[in-house]
Amino acid sequence: MKERAPVRDRFRGKVAIVTGGSAGIGLATVRELCREGAFVALTGIEPDLGAGVEKELKREGFDVLFLGGDMAEERFCASVVHDTVGRWGRVDFLVNNAFSFVAKGMSAERSDWERTYQVGPIAYATMAVNVAPPMKRSGGGAIVNVSSISARIAQPNRWTYNSAKGAVENLTRCMALDLAPSGIRVNSVSPGWIWTREVEKAAGGDRAKWEPVWGEYHMLRRLGEPVEVAAAILFLLSSDAAFITGADLPVDGGYQGLGSEGLGSASQFAGSH
Ligand SMILES: NC(=O)c1ccc[n+]([C@@H]2O[C@H](COP(=O)([O-])OP(=O)(O)OC[C@H]3O[C@@H](n4cnc5c(N)ncnc54)[C@H](O)[C@@H]3O)[C@@H](O)[C@H]2O)c1
Repeated sequence: MKERAPVRDRFRGKVAIVTGGSAGIGLATVRELCREGAFVALTGIEPDLGAGVEKELKREGFDVLFLGGDMAEERFCASVVHDTVGRWGRVDFLVNNAFSFVAKGMSAERSDWERTYQVGPIAYATMAVNVAPPMKRSGGGAIVNVSSISARIAQPNRWTYNSAKGAVENLTRCMALDLAPSGIRVNSVSPGWIWTREVEKAAGGDRAKWEPVWGEYHMLRRLGEPVEVAAAILFLLSSDAAFITGADLPVDGGYQGLGSEGLGSASQFAGSH
């Protein structure tokens, strides 16, 4: 995103929870919500990182609350909602974003499967169950579940992560159906390759080397930025999306639209403009 849109004011006085909000896509979402006037509770599994993020955001004048813990723990999920409502008296939005990057195929141990699902779809569901009653009391709200391009495709040795993301997408539809009577919309976003810690690690920190390679997986021929996913999440949370529920919004630079021919440079049937 070359030019940032001017700050809008869609969330003034609203309260949001962002899981995994201390880094990457979650942190970008926290920042954008704050810029638009929301109060935000963010979770993270790295206490020092989260405390530092909270301090920095407060220094910038934003009203945020960092809650450190593991989304795999049922009691922690409940306490996040409890502490958020205790602090601001309401809750309007939930972004289920924290996930486990256990990406294994046939070598996956039972504990890998359990970890992936506990931090992923089970935590997403637990958070929704806890947040729905206070959200309903606040007059309704919206939930966004962070999915992935991996939800719908095969990738090598990715049974755990890809199946858990697939579960997130159908969970989103089921949640949307059951929470609609409470005035709560539920959608998901599916990011392509976004430059965050995992991708940076895989690149050995060398973006200049790997962006042209991995960028080829996307029609836009580049990787995405966390703030570009955040912008889509804010759209789905906002009243601009008032008639959208049970949907998935790809934020993938065209990744999912490509077939096996990729960008087509090697195709004999490429056609002409
Ligand atoms: N980066 C990508 O290319 C990409 C692509 C598709 C989907 N996604 C999805 O986007 C989401 C965010 O990924 P990211 O790349 O920004 O990650 P990240 O590593 O940059 O940040 C992860 C955040 O989640 C927190 N977290 C991790 N495990 C947790 C746990 N068990 N309990 C509580 N908090 C926990 C971390 O503390 C951190 O705040 C994930 O759902 C991921 O699957 C990322």
